[in-house]
Amino acid sequence: MASQAKLNVLMCGTGEYTTGWTGSGASKSDKKIGVVGLTLFDLRRLGKVDHLSMVGVNGGKFPAIREHLAQNIGNVYKDMDLSFDAFPEEGKVDPDAYKAAIDKLSPGDAVIIFTPDSTHYPIAIYAIRKGIHVLVTKPATQLLSHHNELIDAARENNVVCFVEHHKRFDPVYSDAKARASTLGEFNFFNAWMSQPKSQLETFRAWAGRDSDISYYLSSHHIDICCWILQDIAVPTRVVASAATGIATSEPYNCVPQTEDTITLLVDWQSIKSPKHKGTGVYTASWTAPLKAGIHSAQHWYYMGEKGDITVDQAHRGYDVTVDDTGKTWYNPFYMKYSPSESGHFDGQRGYGYISIEKFIDAARSVNSGASKPAEYDTHGLPTIANTVLTTAILNAGRISLDEKRPVGIAKDGDRWILQ
Ligand SMILES: NC(=O)c1ccc[n+]([C@@H]2O[C@H](COP(=O)([O-])OP(=O)(O)OC[C@H]3O[C@@H](n4cnc5c(N)ncnc54)[C@H](O)[C@@H]3O)[C@@H](O)[C@H]2O)c1
Repeated sequence: MASQAKLNVLMCGTGEYTTGWTGSGASKSDKKIGVVGLTLFDLRRLGKVDHLSMVGVNGGKFPAIREHLAQNIGNVYKDMDLSFDAFPEEGKVDPDAYKAAIDKLSPGDAVIIFTPDSTHYPIAIYAIRKGIHVLVTKPATQLLSHHNELIDAARENNVVCFVEHHKRFDPVYSDAKARASTLGEFNFFNAWMSQPKSQLETFRAWAGRDSDISYYLSSHHIDICCWILQDIAVPTRVVASAATGIATSEPYNCVPQTEDTITLLVDWQSIKSPKHKGTGVYTASWTAPLKAGIHSAQHWYYMGEKGDITVDQAHRGYDVTVDDTGKTWYNPFYMKYSPSESGHFDGQRGYGYISIEKFIDAARSVNSGASKPAEYDTHGLPTIANTVLTTAILNAGRISLDEKRPVGIAKDGDRWILQ
């Protein structure tokens, strides 16, 4: 490992997930100091990362972001170097600033993209074509055709392209995947994921316009289901249904096309047995009750031929009750923010951290010549090639809602297409 060079990384997006800083101040969600920036600062402390940069749209936000990071990271954890170059420069507003920021990188450097869903594809393809390794948040793209283009471009340019599906690194989910593989043919999967109605205020700028709650939340469990079923079954048909009326009413007043709760009903066909078919039901909502003691409700049920699995990741047997705020269920298995006994950041085992570290490790390994990008496809990691069916289902769901019809998923040669 010592022979591997440190990686230079550009963070695209300066919002909640990257810094914990949102347009309306510090995030009030469970990511108050973000995930990407904190993880990269810590990986720099540990010798895996070198030069950092960050690009948003409005350069005027950076003084507040730097202050927020200094207070909440620099003052809290020992030995954190918080330096980074910022794009666009102060006083400038430029939605294309990512191009200038990527142009400053060299082939073999990396970008981590946490920007609105519709911008993932243009940023990712721009970076890949310059020989830059890419980690893009979910949903990787909104269109299956764009996802296929990223697969091709990553192969042509010999770069690592992962989708940041951190739930694959949750020990319960990865253990459940291993157990599901012993349960024979697939029969039924049912997932629920929701966030409180207050998120409609946080997401007002894009909710219903730029993306929907299925792309935003169901992407998580659709990916987990696709991962579990990768050698067992393939999706063949998607029908979507949506509940409406809350997001578009007082006090939220989202644009008229905003759905509250979206359900995708997916037919699955066994790979080995023509007579075995399964059903997947994936529901996501951003109109769940306030004050439920959790930020995201998330549970699912898997039934195979020889047994079943039940997972509730919102309630992990750890709750805290405080006079003023009531009961809250926390999840330090994702991001653990409390410092170590030595005063350093202590969340290296959290699956939010591991997900980013796996990407950094892969990019460094490829740069050193120790591995090739295609090898990661065989490791069950969320590479761009391994996540294509997740995008196929999400895109089919959107078409089904818009065109009020079932949408088929099929293979044309070695490429997945929608019908
Ligand atoms: N916040 C979470 O908990 C979370 C978790 C997992 C995945 N995600 C994904 O992250 C993405 C959004 O990130 P967020 O949650 O930090 O949201 P956010 O709204 O807080 O931040 C989005 C950031 O993207 C920037 N941006 C917008 N257009 C850009 C462009 N053209 N070039 C560069 N930057 C641009 C904005 O300036 C802003 O800093 C979404 O795709 C979402 O699905 C978020």
